[in-house]
Amino acid sequence: MPKTVKRHRCIDCGATAPQWVGRCPACGEWNTLVEESALGPLEQAVNDLDLSSMPIPLSSVDVAAAAAVPTGVEEFDRVLSGGLVPGSVTLLGGEPGIGKSTLLLQVLVARAAAGHRVLLVSAEESAHQVRLRAERLGPVPPGLLILSVTDVGTVINAVVEAEPDLVVVDSIQAVAIGPATAGERRAGGVPGSITQVRECADQLVGLAKARQVATVLVGHVTKDGSLAGPRVLEHMVDTVLSFEGDRHHALRILAAVKHRFGPTGELGLFEMGDHGLNPVDDPGRLLLGDRLTGVAGGIVLPAMQGRRTLLVELQALVTPMAQAQPKRSVVGLDSGRLAMTLAVLARHVELPVLGLDVFASVAGGIRVTEPAADLAVALAVASATTGVPLPADLAAIGEIGLAGEVRQVNNLPRRLEESARLGFTRVVVPSSSPAAPVGVELIRVETVSEAVERFGSGGGRVPGKRPAEGESRR
Ligand code: TYD
Ligand code: MG
Repeated sequence: MPKTVKRHRCIDCGATAPQWVGRCPACGEWNTLVEESALGPLEQAVNDLDLSSMPIPLSSVDVAAAAAVPTGVEEFDRVLSGGLVPGSVTLLGGEPGIGKSTLLLQVLVARAAAGHRVLLVSAEESAHQVRLRAERLGPVPPGLLILSVTDVGTVINAVVEAEPDLVVVDSIQAVAIGPATAGERRAGGVPGSITQVRECADQLVGLAKARQVATVLVGHVTKDGSLAGPRVLEHMVDTVLSFEGDRHHALRILAAVKHRFGPTGELGLFEMGDHGLNPVDDPGRLLLGDRLTGVAGGIVLPAMQGRRTLLVELQALVTPMAQAQPKRSVVGLDSGRLAMTLAVLARHVELPVLGLDVFASVAGGIRVTEPAADLAVALAVASATTGVPLPADLAAIGEIGLAGEVRQVNNLPRRLEESARLGFTRVVVPSSSPAAPVGVELIRVETVSEAVERFGSGGGRVPGKRPAEGESRR
């Protein structure tokens, strides 16, 4: 018969002890420990149950426990539908230098200033560097703790000891599990390797749930926009945020790619300034402020970014072909959709674009890849080709089909309202569009050629230009 170890269990709190003691080590009650075998068989069976693995009525689950706590950085809270949920894990992805560390430092400062204890695990920068950055942002509240280490074990100890209610780990690629000597690290994979990133995240997710501490992990992404390595983390965390923008422009866009506690359509807009990130209430000022009017090739497009409408300036430039192959270059646009739009312009509007180098861009570092941008791109390219500027108060919205038809897009009323608000009172739209808001004149078009002709540049009647060599006029 196997030797049974007789454990003692506290009849008050259920804690076990290897031997009898007068006072329960867990709850501190006196004379509550009994030998397990002394319990009745049923009582014993109930005691052995792990209640956390039992099904419970969904209606009895506490909703308040998942309530978001505002961080105090409004645009951040807006994207998270209110703030950070205790025990939740959020992954903030973005290209190096975009402002992830700055944003999270501002979040930590705001939370600490509201009297909370928060912890920044800075695995990439020294405490000194972080302090210097914090100085740029303003006063540093005493509740903001910093730990400049790379070992996850140290992080776990610190969280258990200091009991913060928000932890930021910057970055998940820079932390590792285990001793830091090069040889030993090699055995378990270097920081940033898939194995290390996944293992570290796994432990930090466990820590967040066990201590009910809201945790934000920073992840660097590569140029093509995917999380390098941490892609594997997306399913492990509750929320995935992306922080985007062009490093050379001030505008930064925060969006939720995945969010277990609310909708993902909200967008946070920030402007990088000398004292950190500031909320942007009026993106039109940033995006359209430097627009030149009366120049061919420019038009305004009411683009949707998440649930928000942003009026962006679209520009096209055409030049004679410089090499044997025509060059197409896009910034912030989908190159495949540009190629398709050019083909439609050549085939259905008979514009000589196939023999020209074409450059198209969205100003301000915004990316607009939705098909709804097609019509504006077509008008901008047509205008650039003919040299006839489009009216300064003109906006355009519509998807283009391969037959040259202009199709309906989503959220049209919202786009029209925003256009009107910023003074773009004439909008070229698909013919099936509903009535316009007050003050907006709709120019309904069925085809691209109708749209191009309307603005004095269509039908192949290109003033002062002849089709380029080799251009086929089908
Ligand atoms: P950072 O937050 O370090 O980016 P990430 O963590 O995503 O790599 O900072 C990005 C850039 O922002 C950096 O080049 C310096 C600049 N910056 C400002 O322009 N103003 C400021 O107040 C701060 C703190 C940084
Ligand atoms: Mg950083």
